[in-house]
Amino acid sequence: MGTAALDLHVHRWEPSASPDAGTLLLLHGTGGNEDDLIPLARLVAPAASLLSVRGNVMEQGAPRFFRRLAEGVFDLEDLRRRTDDLARFIEAARGRYGFDAGRLYALGFSNGANVAASLLLSHPSAIAGGVLVRAMVPFEPTEPPDLRGRAVLLSQGRMDPLIPPAGAERLAGLLREAGADVELAWQAASHGLVQGDVIVATRWLGSRLG
Ligand code: MLT
Repeated sequence: MGTAALDLHVHRWEPSASPDAGTLLLLHGTGGNEDDLIPLARLVAPAASLLSVRGNVMEQGAPRFFRRLAEGVFDLEDLRRRTDDLARFIEAARGRYGFDAGRLYALGFSNGANVAASLLLSHPSAIAGGVLVRAMVPFEPTEPPDLRGRAVLLSQGRMDPLIPPAGAERLAGLLREAGADVELAWQAASHGLVQGDVIVATRWLGSRLG
């Protein structure tokens, strides 16, 4: 492990002035990069340290966290490999930057929320949970993971053309069955981020990170 795993992702590390403030793992949407979610993170968790990661899969020049065959249809083999790599990256980053994995929460949007869901389902101890905005079921686990002690806020759009409400409910159900503490918040929104996402994320993270 060590440097090689840390090199898996271009990333930004922004340490907090208060070491106990917890850390957000920022995972952007398709076509984003490690700079995109920094302003949002500063808004919803001003005191947190930030580990912001760039997806290392290119789709016609647009960075993503794993390959897809079509919109909402994922390359499951690639998803598994990239999720394993992301877990290795997080472990290496923890060694380098010294954050507490027990207080590491994802803040993921769209493709970033989907890789965060994949991480929870396949590497339950990699993160403490997170805020997943516009997430869908990334894959159906063959064995239920143990997500007791993990907490997840799903913030979904009622008019999202990519993720029908049943898809979001299914993800919430999967995470709950695995033992996670799940809140499903609905926004009067499509796939894009809205003010309601910021409000629920601020409240939810405030109660966890203090
Ligand atoms: C995905 O590919 O993860 C989802 O379709 C969301 C997106 O990136 O548009």
